[in-house]
Amino acid sequence: MLNAEHTQGAHVGAPRSRVDGRLKVTGAARYAAEFPADSLLHGVIVSSAVTRGKIKRIHTGDAKAQPGVVEVFTHENRPSTAWFDYKYRDETAPPGSPFRPLYDDEIQFSGQAIALVVAETFEAARAAAMLVRVEYTPADHATNLDLQLDEAYVPPKKRNGIKPPPKPRGDAEAAFAAAPVKLQNEYRVAIEHHNPMEPHATTVVWKGGGKLTIHDKTQGSQNSQSYVTNVFGLSADDVEVISPFVGGAFGSGLRPQHQLFLAVMAALQLERSVRVELTRDQTFTLGYRPCTIQQVSLAANRDGKLQSVMHNATAGTSRFEDYQEVVVNWSGLLYDSPNASFDYRLAKLDTYTPSDMRAPGATLGVFALEAAMDELSCELGMDPIELRLRNYADRDENDDKAFTSKELRACYRQGAERFGWSRRSSKPRSMREGRELIGMGMASGVWEAMMQKTAARATLTADGKLEIACATADIGTGTYTILAQIAADALGLPLERVSVKLGDSSLPKSPVEGGSWTAASAGSAVQAACDSVKQALLTAARGLEGSPLANVDLDRIVLRDGRAEVAAHSSAGLAIEDIMRGAGKQKLEAEESAAPSKTAMLTHVGYTHSAVFAEVRVDEELGVVRVTRIVNAVAAGKIINPKTARSQILGGVVMGIGMALEEETLVDHHLGRFMNHNLAEYHVPVNADIHDIDVLFVEEHDEMVSPIGVKGLGEIGIVGTAAAIANAIHHATGKRMRDLPITIDKII
Ligand code: MOS
Repeated sequence: MLNAEHTQGAHVGAPRSRVDGRLKVTGAARYAAEFPADSLLHGVIVSSAVTRGKIKRIHTGDAKAQPGVVEVFTHENRPSTAWFDYKYRDETAPPGSPFRPLYDDEIQFSGQAIALVVAETFEAARAAAMLVRVEYTPADHATNLDLQLDEAYVPPKKRNGIKPPPKPRGDAEAAFAAAPVKLQNEYRVAIEHHNPMEPHATTVVWKGGGKLTIHDKTQGSQNSQSYVTNVFGLSADDVEVISPFVGGAFGSGLRPQHQLFLAVMAALQLERSVRVELTRDQTFTLGYRPCTIQQVSLAANRDGKLQSVMHNATAGTSRFEDYQEVVVNWSGLLYDSPNASFDYRLAKLDTYTPSDMRAPGATLGVFALEAAMDELSCELGMDPIELRLRNYADRDENDDKAFTSKELRACYRQGAERFGWSRRSSKPRSMREGRELIGMGMASGVWEAMMQKTAARATLTADGKLEIACATADIGTGTYTILAQIAADALGLPLERVSVKLGDSSLPKSPVEGGSWTAASAGSAVQAACDSVKQALLTAARGLEGSPLANVDLDRIVLRDGRAEVAAHSSAGLAIEDIMRGAGKQKLEAEESAAPSKTAMLTHVGYTHSAVFAEVRVDEELGVVRVTRIVNAVAAGKIINPKTARSQILGGVVMGIGMALEEETLVDHHLGRFMNHNLAEYHVPVNADIHDIDVLFVEEHDEMVSPIGVKGLGEIGIVGTAAAIANAIHHATGKRMRDLPITIDKII
C-alpha cells in the first residue's frame, strides 16, 4: 500500500509552511463576503425578538420607503420555491424537518430570521432593517434542559453516520453494587458557540439566465450546491459554489445556513447579485454545542480493575430536528470493563438545532469519563496513569473489533516524560509556590479515525507542473499544503510546481470537510490520482525512441526533482518536460477516488488517541486559574506535515482551555434567549490565557486505517484537554469540578 519513495518523500513528513500562507497574510485570499459582483445588492436579516409564538403583523412600509431599499422579504411575500414543496435534508442534517426561513408566521427560536431587507448599499439595508416593526403573539417556551429532563427520549431515528450507544455488556448495575470501590457523579457542560473568525456570509453572483455563482462560507461546496439546487429547483449546471477559503468553522459550516437560502432567494427574485452577511450576534442563531447533562458510574476492584462502567447523557435539541452526536460510546471502548451500560437521550427545547462543534460528543463524554477516572484513581490511591494502564483496552469492545492501531501506551509514556509527571506529588493541595497552588492533571483523548469516499484529479502539464483538484474545503487546517506535499512526492516534484484547487462544487466529488477525515480521505484520493498519472508518465517515458528507460522495470524507475530516473543510476533518466514533449502530450490527467477498505472495516476500527497533561496555578484568594503548561501527546498514524499538524493540536488545546475555563453561552430562560452573543461577553481564550503548549506526535504505523496511513488531527486536540485541566484543578485545590466552564465563582 505504502511505497518506499512515498514514505521517504522529500515533502511528506516535513514541516512545510502553508502553501496558501502568503495569500492569507497579504489579504489576497478571498472569503465569502469579499468576492466582488457588479451592481451588488446587500441583504440584512431581521431577527425575531421573541422565542416562540406567531408574527401577528409585520410592518415593512417604513423600511421599504427608505432610499436605496429594493425589497423587504417576509413570510408574506417570499417567493414560492421548491423548498416549500418538500423537505430537503442536507448531507449532515439530523433526522427531522430543517428550519425553513420565512416559511410562515411561526417563531421557533429567539433570533429566528423573519425578514430580509435588500438595498443598494449595506448601510441602507442595515438602517432600513431597524425600521421593520413586528407585532408578535408570543407563546410559552422551554429552553432550560433541567426542566425538560422528564420529557427526554431515545431518538427514534438515528442520525446518519452517528453510532447509537453500544449494547450493554454483562450486568453493570449488579457489578456496581458488588464492587468495593465506586463512584457515581453528574457532569455538566454549558452550551458553547463555534465563533470562528469569519462570520457566516454568502455572495450570490447573478450571471443572467438563472445561472448563479455562489461564494458561501461552507465546509462543503457540494453540500451547499445540492441544497440550493434542491430547495430552489435548479439544475447543478446552473449553480456553482466556490469557497476557496474559509475563516475557520469548527463545524458551523457543515450545514448550509439560512443566509445562503436568503441570498439565493433574493438573487433569483430580483435577478441581481446579492450578498447577505450575518453579524457576530446573528451567528449565535446558528447551531451550537448542545447543553449536556451526564451521569458516569465507575466501579473497580481494589487493584484498580474496572468492574462496571455506566454512562448516561441527556442533551438538548430543537423542536424540529433530533440532533445527535456520540457522547457515551467512548466509555465503552477507551477502557476494558466486563460490565457496561449506556444511555443517550434528547430533550426538546425552543432553540435552533444544535450542531457539530469540534469533536462533537467526544469533548463532552470524554470529559465526564476522564474526570471520573481521575476521581477513581484518588479513591484507589493509585496514580492516574497506572489506573488507565490497568484498564487498557486492546480491543474495541463496543463493536467487538480490533483497533487498526493504538499507540496510547506510548502517548502516556512519552507525554508523562515530557511533562515531568514523576515530579507530581500524589496528594491534592501539596504543591504550592507563593500564593498559588500548583496542580497537575492528566486525561486520555480519543476520536474516531474516519475516512469517507472522496475523489481527486491530478493534471500534469507539458511544462512539468501539476495541478490537484478536489471539492473539499480547507477551513484553515492546512489541507492545501498537505495535498501539495502528497502530490509533490508522488511525482517527485518540488512543492512550487504543484498547485491545489479546492472548495469548488465543480471539482471532483468530496463530502463536507469534517470529522477529521479530510487528510485521510482527500489525501488518499490525491495519492491515487497522482499514482495513475505517474503510471501514464512512465509508460510514455519508456515508449520514447531511444529512451534510457525503455527496458527498465516500472518499479525500478523513480521520479525525483522533476525527472524519471533509474533507481540507482541518477544519470540515466529524462526530465518530465522532455517526456511530455517526446510523447506529444499537452497533459496527462487522472481522476481517482479513494474509500475505506470494506474488508478491513469488517474486523477493524480506527481511532486516534492522545494523552493530555496539564499544569495549573490557582490563586485561591482570587479564584484565578492559569493553565501554565499543557503537553499533548498524540497518536494519529502518519503525520504528513508536523508543522500544520502541530497547529491543529494547538488550536484544539486552546479550544479545550476555553471549554474548561471560559466558554459558555448563557441563556436567559425567562426570555429564552442567548444573552452573551458577542465576543466581549462570550469569552474565548486570548493571548494572556495561553502559556506553554507542547505537542508531540507518537510514532504510529497504520496501513489499514486509510491507504496513506493517516488518521486525522482536526479534533483530537480538544478531546481530553478540559478533563486534564479539571483534574489538575482538583490536584491543586482538592475541589472536584464537574460543571464546565470552571469559572472563578466555582473555585472560591
Ligand atoms: Mo467538524 S465539528 O466535523 O467540522
